[in-house]
Amino acid sequence: MQTMNWQQTAPGVWKFTIGDPQDITPLSVMGTIPRTEEMQQLPQVEPPFPRDSIEIEDLGDYCMVSIPLNRTEKLYGTGLQLLRMNQRGRNRYLRVNSDPKQDTGETHAPVPFYISDLGYGVLVDTSRIVTMYCGSTMRQTEALNEDIRDRNTDKGWKATMVATRVEIKIPREGADVYLFGGPTLSDVVARYNLFCGGGTLPPKWGLGFWHRVPTLYTDGQVLEEAEQFRQHDMPCDVIGLEPGWHSQSYPVSYEWEKSRFPEPEQFVKALDQKGFRVNLWEHPYVTPKSELYEQLKPLSGSHSVWGGLAPDYSLPEAVELYTKQHEEQHVHIGVSGYKLDECDGSDLTNNSWMFPGHAQFPSGLDGEQMRQMYGLMFQKMTTDLFRSQNRRTYGLVRASNTGASSMPYVLYSDLYDHKQFIRGICSASFSGLLWTPEVRRARNAEDWVRRMQTVIFSPLAMLNAWGDGTKPWSFPEVEDTVRHYIKLRMRLLPYLYTAFATYREKGIPPFRAMPFVMTPSEIVAAEVLQAEAAEQTLNTTDGAYGKRKVREWDDQYMVGDALLVAPLVEGEYEREVLLPSGVWYGLESGVRYTGGSIIRIHCDLEHIPVFVKSGSVIPMMPALSHVPRQGTQVPLEIIHFGDEAGEGYVYDDDGETFDYEAGVCGVWQAKVTKQTDGSYKGQLTGPPNMPQAYSTVTWRLAQTRL
Ligand code: GAL
Repeated sequence: MQTMNWQQTAPGVWKFTIGDPQDITPLSVMGTIPRTEEMQQLPQVEPPFPRDSIEIEDLGDYCMVSIPLNRTEKLYGTGLQLLRMNQRGRNRYLRVNSDPKQDTGETHAPVPFYISDLGYGVLVDTSRIVTMYCGSTMRQTEALNEDIRDRNTDKGWKATMVATRVEIKIPREGADVYLFGGPTLSDVVARYNLFCGGGTLPPKWGLGFWHRVPTLYTDGQVLEEAEQFRQHDMPCDVIGLEPGWHSQSYPVSYEWEKSRFPEPEQFVKALDQKGFRVNLWEHPYVTPKSELYEQLKPLSGSHSVWGGLAPDYSLPEAVELYTKQHEEQHVHIGVSGYKLDECDGSDLTNNSWMFPGHAQFPSGLDGEQMRQMYGLMFQKMTTDLFRSQNRRTYGLVRASNTGASSMPYVLYSDLYDHKQFIRGICSASFSGLLWTPEVRRARNAEDWVRRMQTVIFSPLAMLNAWGDGTKPWSFPEVEDTVRHYIKLRMRLLPYLYTAFATYREKGIPPFRAMPFVMTPSEIVAAEVLQAEAAEQTLNTTDGAYGKRKVREWDDQYMVGDALLVAPLVEGEYEREVLLPSGVWYGLESGVRYTGGSIIRIHCDLEHIPVFVKSGSVIPMMPALSHVPRQGTQVPLEIIHFGDEAGEGYVYDDDGETFDYEAGVCGVWQAKVTKQTDGSYKGQLTGPPNMPQAYSTVTWRLAQTRL
């Protein structure tokens, strides 16, 4: 057993090295530069543990790191986890996998980073698969006699006992381990995101509505479908092309199919004139018919996927070939971004594809490492490509890992459980990831509306009709409701954009799970209040794992600082909502609720429960057919909720370039004060010029009721 020697590497971040780690790791691939200045703004903290409390054991083929845990702590993170949010008591086998149907920890986006609700985090930076035993293993010396129960006679017997250490299995070559201080959970995640370069700031159009057209569509069909959006008065900013635009797929050529898209440049321009951006689907595997094939061949792995090459994008020559081709054939003609599909791999019995773990790549990486980092490499290459043109992109990716917070990419999945999709929004928020609960199809109009309502309140509001050919108006009986929510998304754009600016500058995710805004004791207090009202007693001491007494609240989340969203799924017309302390109002109903408690609300199909914190101001704009272009101005409306003074922010810049990094941007404080005569006065203070996107500012007091 060794003890480690750690050093501070950034404000509130300590690092220790185990063994002799590989040169290529997720953090090195991403080239992350910590935003130390912003990290310094966070509270100063001491290391979360005494040095001698972390143990390292060399077991030959691998190392075990053992970190203390108290009996009731909850552990979040470990990447996108669709099946649970609190990982306490679970083994997390953190391998990239496109079919995470079982709760093993495998996922599209594993991140070996766990965050405790006590306010610290632990990250392992490695290209290899890590297993985190999140309080699921118990050493003989740890077992407490009073915990040992007789299953025959004791109903309280549990399969997972309370363990008081996290054990992490680390690859044989070793790894860097980072400890992140808080003091709050939100500070830990903010620190991690800033350490990874800060959160991403998408272009404004990325926050509009997205539609992906069916596979094999021709240019004419795409243009016609785009036109239908305008005719149906459904805002839409991005049209995504699916398989069929390539001259061959799968594997892909990256070249346009001339019979369907004879004039790609004109096609992209025609859509642009109507206010649509074009996003291209692709995957990594290169067909022998591609012009890139011969050059990429010596730069590719030993194993093929679907007969195509799996290029080694840790090699600069391979990156250059990919980038040059994409620049010339797509980006140069106006394509706005990509959907980076199938960089994850599947092991289903009836649908298994990916290069194996023992595949060899020219850089020396093996298949396991490449699979763990492939999604990161594509995010990085394409982001750099757009950056070289001083253009921001926003797109989709199906695999990710550590260090992705500054990447303008949103995860998605072929899985389709609505509740899991909602949980994805919550769970992604702990690990520097964004997730879209994309809509594809529905069992009926109700399912359709509920899914649409959820996706509207997510990082990327998208209908992915690639296989089903659905349109927002596919269920005519609910078309008005769907339109209403797509328009609401558009109206909320100034608010959403500001929330993303906070992500970039402060590392606080725009979409965040409840533990970001409520401490464990606040959550327990709300639960106790509810139990007492029902004359029940609540077991709060035993709730860290297993049979839950205190709920996880992984089905509701915050959007920015002011909005709380509690989606409903098909068949539900009421639900319980955990409201943080203070007064809250229904965003659309204006109904007043008292927070610090669990409320029960009823909601018809026309509505999704969204609450606004009293004292908030929400900047909104008109529901245009698409996000205004750079240089176009629209009126800004600032809505004030509550009968006290109010405060919020409006961030603005050109919405499309990186000029904001050189300071061409501004944050205005929107403040509402109560006058002696009882009226309210709103004032925007900040840089001398008005936010460039807005022509006028009007203030409105939201109508509220008891
Ligand atoms: C899947 C992807 C779908 C769709 C499809 C096209 O891998 O998840 O969204 O793009 O490929 O073949």
